[in-house]
Amino acid sequence: MLQIDNVTKRFGGLVAVDAVSLTVNEGEIIGLIGPNGAGKTTLYNVIAGTFPATQGSIHFRGQRIDGKRADETCMLGLARTFQIPQVFGSMTVGDSIMVGAFLRSRSRRVARRRAEEVAEAVGLGHRFDLPTTSLTTAERKRLEVARTLATDPGMILLDEVMAGLNHTEVQLMLDLVSSLRDGGLTVLFVEHNLSAVMQICDRIAVLDHGAKIADGLPTEVMENREVITAYLGAPAEDGENQAGGDHA
Ligand SMILES: Nc1ncnc2c1ncn2[C@@H]1O[C@H](COP(=O)(O)OP(=O)(O)O)[C@@H](O)[C@H]1O
Ligand SMILES: [Mg+2]
Repeated sequence: MLQIDNVTKRFGGLVAVDAVSLTVNEGEIIGLIGPNGAGKTTLYNVIAGTFPATQGSIHFRGQRIDGKRADETCMLGLARTFQIPQVFGSMTVGDSIMVGAFLRSRSRRVARRRAEEVAEAVGLGHRFDLPTTSLTTAERKRLEVARTLATDPGMILLDEVMAGLNHTEVQLMLDLVSSLRDGGLTVLFVEHNLSAVMQICDRIAVLDHGAKIADGLPTEVMENREVITAYLGAPAEDGENQAGGDHA
């Protein structure tokens, strides 16, 4: 469904994404993990068309999408959330979701109906007419998911939708993501919460300093020495920092 081939993204001298290849099949939930600064959000930005890749190619449903604008990519059925929830102060929850729904329909009535369905599906039905500023952190994360769903995507890119959530809220988000997959969505999932990723993902890819250092079943990846080092830092006898992995 999504094929990333040898994608590199440079910012001046900094190689934020370094020759990454990754394939996501239809109906899969793939976790993309890695320490802070590993290049996860940058890879999302390149996939979603926020900015172009320096090198490499990306195909979605067989069509080349690198170089397309964000709205074109979204129109093809690939939608992403933002790591920082894009909450607009004066907007209601409903209006905020309708922004997504307007991608498919110019009719306010149709967009509102779609937004209501999506709000129900993510558990924000009772918040529809409230300002987005009144939402809790967990509700804002759900709103971000709702805004992507309103565009009627075939695949969604989630960027740290568990960040700042308590255990119960994480479980609810996992249930939501599982139900979306059961409904036919393909999911690429950037997350710092490793136990959450382990529970839900079919496969996990690991980025470190922009490069993919592992890709496989969750249990395999968690036993991979390179991955353990990337997360926990080098062993003490090397005299290196032991807690290098930043889980903020
Ligand atoms: N727009 C940008 N301009 C310059 N450097 C950037 C930009 N976005 C990200 N970076 C840099 O790219 C690297 C990867 O960042 P990012 O993709 O946000 O990592 P992650 O999401 O894995 O924490 C970091 O060194 C970051 O400072
Ligand atoms: Mg990030």
